[in-house]
Amino acid sequence: MNLQTLEKTAGEMVSPGRGILAADESFGTIGKRFDALGIESTEESRRAYREMLFTTEGIGEFLSGVILFDETIRQEASDGTPLPQVLLDQGVMPGIKVDGSTVDMPLAPGEKFTQGLDKLAGRLEEYREMGARFTKWRAVITIGDGIPTARCVDANAHALALYAAFCQEADLVPIVEPEVLIDGDHSIEQCYDATEWTLNRTFDYLYEHGVELSGMILKPNMVISGKETANQSGVEEVAHATVECLLRSVPAAVPGIAFLSGGQSALQATQHLNAMNRLYEGRLPWELSFSYARALQEQPMEIWGGESEKVEAAQKAFHHRLKMNGAARTGSYSDDMEEAA
Ligand code: 13P
Repeated sequence: MNLQTLEKTAGEMVSPGRGILAADESFGTIGKRFDALGIESTEESRRAYREMLFTTEGIGEFLSGVILFDETIRQEASDGTPLPQVLLDQGVMPGIKVDGSTVDMPLAPGEKFTQGLDKLAGRLEEYREMGARFTKWRAVITIGDGIPTARCVDANAHALALYAAFCQEADLVPIVEPEVLIDGDHSIEQCYDATEWTLNRTFDYLYEHGVELSGMILKPNMVISGKETANQSGVEEVAHATVECLLRSVPAAVPGIAFLSGGQSALQATQHLNAMNRLYEGRLPWELSFSYARALQEQPMEIWGGESEKVEAAQKAFHHRLKMNGAARTGSYSDDMEEAA
């Protein structure tokens, strides 16, 4: 493990004004998203869509990295340039999702476990040779009747820590993503408790496995009310609950926290990040950034719709969303900026 390399990469990943695009949807997930818009999911349509995103002019100003899926890291742009090289040419680092998605957690109804540790070391070598500088592993925690259970929280936290250790050994920065789902009718307090618990257990296991906190990035959910509850919390409430929870569970040695959007609208995801950076300016030990998939892609994907003549309009929408979140990184975003565009 070369700690200097890891720290340098992690620092770049959360460099000022920039964030990460998660474009690592598995076949199932991108299929669902395309399906909802009437786009056929084929190797070629997925390639064309991601080429549209990655060739958007000027993305390097707002993006430090993109998380790719196994299929994508092996694909090429229409002019034959490998997609990871397209990103490098934009000043954006390629990363790769390495978990093997979730399965039903055994003997734990309603809960999920993330698989993928088998043969991980070998796969990491291959990805590094293909240009990847960082990786991602997502664990899923569900709030519901009697869940999450300690069984599920611990098993996932342990797997996340082992994954992170394998990555650091291969000089790849691990993005550690324990996601407490927004699905359900739970309160923001229940989300706070589940998030605090999950993060504390995750950092316990990261410590047990000797993971260098200065060479990793945390990708958590925000602390927010369940999607199906009538009692939705306001922007500042989410910002305060999230940061207070993180202050109580994330060591200061971690260079950056890059949130997932988790089913929030694109506007909400920007507003929440902005509020956190505005309200806590100069008082936090880590960078607060974004690593959104849906909140960055929703509009461009809809505009693109699988049609090559829509590429320019989709890229414009994508660039705008990136710019808004770039502003949210410093707390300088305002609703007027949406209208001005
Ligand atoms: P969302 O921003 O759509 O939650 O996706 C982030 C991600 O990478 C999930 O693993």
